[in-house]
Amino acid sequence: MPAFCPTGWRTRQQHRIWRCSVKNASPFLELEDGPTVRVSFEQTPLELPDGANLAAALLGAGIGRFRSTSISGAPRAPFCMMGACFECLVVVDGVTRQACMMSVRAGMEIERPDPTPPDSWSDSEEPSEVDDAKA
Ligand code: FES
Repeated sequence: MPAFCPTGWRTRQQHRIWRCSVKNASPFLELEDGPTVRVSFEQTPLELPDGANLAAALLGAGIGRFRSTSISGAPRAPFCMMGACFECLVVVDGVTRQACMMSVRAGMEIERPDPTPPDSWSDSEEPSEVDDAKA
């Protein structure tokens, strides 16, 4: 079958590399028809694929904001999907975790983290024991 390219390049055979690189077996395809489990996100029940990557599953369920920045309140969502950017932070069963590094399991209670900075960030705090030791 001839293949054509808008640049004018043409060939009668498909590129060997292209033929070999087409993937027809993907773990993501298996998840589409697999069993789902019930979790809650911000007290809203969701059905997510059992064992799927949590960040991908939440994005697939239409969740577009995972957390907000503590300074401007800007929305954040997964970016790297490999544990480097920390934009996917969520609170799972009371513990702040990176959603891209977790798998979906039944009964997870997922919340958005509180964007309020911890009290330890305030400027008006009294000197700590560490400061006393330095003096
Ligand atoms: S998406 Fe970057 S750490 Fe999770």
